[in-house]
Amino acid sequence: MTTVEFRTPDALAEAERWTAHNYHPLPVVVAEAEGAWVTDVDGRRYLDFLAGYSALNFGHRHPGLIAAAHAQLDRVTLTSRAFVHDQFADFCRGLAELCGKELVLPMNTGAEAVETAIKVARKWGYRVKGVADERAEIIVAAGNFHGRTTTIVSFSTDPEARADFGPYTPGFVVVPYGDLEAVRKAITPNTVAVLMEPIQGEAGVLVPPAGFFAGVRELCTEQNVLMIADEIQSGLGRTGRTFAIEHDEVVPDMYVLGKALGGGIVPVSAVAADRSVLGVLRPGEHGSTFGGNPLACAVGAEVVRLLATGEFQERSARLGAHLHAGLEALIGKGVVGVRGRGLWAGVDIDPLLMTGRQACERLAERGVLAKDTHGSTIRLAPPLVVTEKDLDHALFQLAAILSS
Ligand SMILES: Cc1ncc(COP(=O)(O)O)c(C=O)c1O
Repeated sequence: MTTVEFRTPDALAEAERWTAHNYHPLPVVVAEAEGAWVTDVDGRRYLDFLAGYSALNFGHRHPGLIAAAHAQLDRVTLTSRAFVHDQFADFCRGLAELCGKELVLPMNTGAEAVETAIKVARKWGYRVKGVADERAEIIVAAGNFHGRTTTIVSFSTDPEARADFGPYTPGFVVVPYGDLEAVRKAITPNTVAVLMEPIQGEAGVLVPPAGFFAGVRELCTEQNVLMIADEIQSGLGRTGRTFAIEHDEVVPDMYVLGKALGGGIVPVSAVAADRSVLGVLRPGEHGSTFGGNPLACAVGAEVVRLLATGEFQERSARLGAHLHAGLEALIGKGVVGVRGRGLWAGVDIDPLLMTGRQACERLAERGVLAKDTHGSTIRLAPPLVVTEKDLDHALFQLAAILSS
């Protein structure tokens, strides 16, 4: 008899041995990936139902995106913004047009784009709105997740994300998510912006009450406050529309984008707004060595072209309806709640059965990768290239772990 040697345990131990313990990954070591599927170092295949927290909306190694990256690798990859390169205008024009805004400012990670939005909103507040120096306030929502920088965790309400990282940046007012009256009461003459996620991803794919964002839009217009939509996880096709905020028929003053903008290849983020807002920045006041680099722009421009076809939004809406119907059918069979839009769902597992972490471990054993959020909630966000057959496979495996 031959013994089969699995490489996964050693690879896991080695990864743990050399890194800070700031993540608690599932015991899977990925070696290859294509579309909605990944293969581990032992040749086992898994359906990826996390899609890099929406960074892989177009799937792993989308051929058009990989081709754009390859072509750019052979030409020029980095200049810094000290010079202009020939991919820059194409990406920025395309993204601005996709957003229906006049200007964009490219950065790298989501957190950097959020920081950019905060800085722009503050400067707009001082220079355009006329708020007194150092007094600018930004209204945010409880349960938010906007990234991990010291300023951003300053207004997190999640003790895990925030505790021990003070002193905290002042200037943020937290209100309950979805509570329009609370937003109204929180606005003062010093309020420069309302910054919120159209759907709160990390909080468990929470969809606010109908009319909430339309109300926020109205308040912001009325009170001369910028409405900023953090679409880093919810945007770029994930919910069946280009932007999740479109479901509320609302246009924010500023979009904050990231994740899928890099096509699952490179970190690309950006903010998009009109000249009256983004025009407040002057040379030297904000920037990033890698932001808007040629490789990022070549990939980002291809992402914009993919989104401009509408194909991915349509897939997400159609397949999302299938996914949600399948999840609704599990209510009472181990599932106690389902939320979300398009190919994005927060699924509350009966806490008497298992935690979200346990559910994800059992799903991984059955070849489906998902991620827990809080308590017994798991989050499903497959790449938008997933097929109906793939969805049925994942739903079957979810039903199996709930009934075994
Ligand atoms: C809504 C939202 N904003 C910001 C971020 C931060 O993005 P990054 O991890 O690229 O800094 C995330 C990441 O999950 C997010 O979901």
